[in-house]
Amino acid sequence: MSATPGPSTPSKKRSRWDADEDNQPPEPQLSSKRRAKSKSAKSETPPVQTLPHAPPGRPEPTHPRHSIFVPPRTLHPTLTPSRSVYCYERLNAIEEGSYGVVFRARDKQTGEIVALKKLKLDEEKHGFPITALREINALMSCKHENVVNIREVVVGDTLTQVFIVMDFIEHDLKTLLTVMPSPFLQSEIKTLLLQLLSAVAYCHERWILHRDLKTSNLLMNNRGTIKVADFGLARRYGDPVGVGGLTQLVVTLWYRAPEILLGATTYSTAVDMWSVGCIFAELILKEPLFQAKGEIELLSMIFKLLGPPTSTSWPDYQSLPLAKTITLPPQQPPQLRQKFPYLTAAGLDLLSRLLTYDPEKRISAREALQHPYFSESPLPKHPDLFGSFPSAAAGEKRRKPFDSPSAPARAADYKLLTEFDAYADAHNA
Ligand SMILES: Nc1ncnc2c1ncn2[C@@H]1O[C@H](COP(=O)(O)OP(=O)(O)O)[C@@H](O)[C@H]1O
Ligand SMILES: [Mg+2]
Repeated sequence: MSATPGPSTPSKKRSRWDADEDNQPPEPQLSSKRRAKSKSAKSETPPVQTLPHAPPGRPEPTHPRHSIFVPPRTLHPTLTPSRSVYCYERLNAIEEGSYGVVFRARDKQTGEIVALKKLKLDEEKHGFPITALREINALMSCKHENVVNIREVVVGDTLTQVFIVMDFIEHDLKTLLTVMPSPFLQSEIKTLLLQLLSAVAYCHERWILHRDLKTSNLLMNNRGTIKVADFGLARRYGDPVGVGGLTQLVVTLWYRAPEILLGATTYSTAVDMWSVGCIFAELILKEPLFQAKGEIELLSMIFKLLGPPTSTSWPDYQSLPLAKTITLPPQQPPQLRQKFPYLTAAGLDLLSRLLTYDPEKRISAREALQHPYFSESPLPKHPDLFGSFPSAAAGEKRRKPFDSPSAPARAADYKLLTEFDAYADAHNA
């Protein structure tokens, strides 16, 4: 979480905008606004004469060059040139992985704080990568209260400098779970899960598979609202699929559905639902459910928790490409109840419907939203009643619990609610 660039990216490919802070060059000679203006001025000149929009003073061609039903470019506001990244002032790097980097930045015009994600284009030799297009396209087609809001796409100095501009969200759930003094309450887990399910249901209804749902890709603001982010692996599932089928290189290992682990090349929305099950479990346990080192270890952890699949629980198991290479352990009862001793029967039922072997039988997001778990006591907590936490992404310092007498009021509320809800939870269990 520092503002220094990652060592692996060759410096000549870096945009000047995201170069080292101490070394920030002056703004480019030609201001971004002027560049944008000159670009847009260019593109606003009608490219070809079309009827009935031919410019005055020119003879109208007797035959239009293309259909009069094609509207002129000026009627496509979305096709304006991208603005420059220099419209934003860089504040700090939020997350710097081996692939990409996410910055916190300020809109120079409005002063609003945003997050900029640099797309991974550095090594591209074959034009703009389809994965980047999918990420932008998926984000743009999923406008929902619980999906991170994309504001625009901006460009840097070179063709490989493309950034997605999003609303800045204070936390990601993975970081939050590691710094929270105590786990979420049942009432809070219900709220978060309902929000996640409603975003996933929305994406699935728009034919979008996320394919990388996990706690680090779920952002949460200080008002108790989750925003699904990182559509870097998303794709439309209605699209024709190539000869090899869908890629198996999806979903971070711990959250990967068993059908993908067993080599299925046709999979669907159920892969996201398995990940939701893993996230549900993680919210309860405060640590990831299946922390396996490899695929085989992961399968054996799954078999141990749920009992190995049978011809009844998963009729298609034997036809999966890798099923023959796996020796199933002897039948043993599932250990789900022992792992989650305090979860109500309804909660356990929802969890086992999400972690169902057969993707055909796995619960859908829409069905899960109606599950009785959400209508039994304790009821989902109103998002406004969630506590707020210092944001690591904004560089705010973490306070040690109970260390500071001047804890913010909302944090104090949180503690009261915690005790109250723990009491309610205990008496409703
Ligand atoms: N809009 C945002 N606001 C605040 N932090 C963000 C935002 N988007 C991403 N992040 C942070 O950056 C991290 C990486 O972003 P992500 O989109 O998941 O990229 P990657 O493809 O590298 O995983 C997230 O886990 C989160 O901590
Ligand atoms: Mg991510």
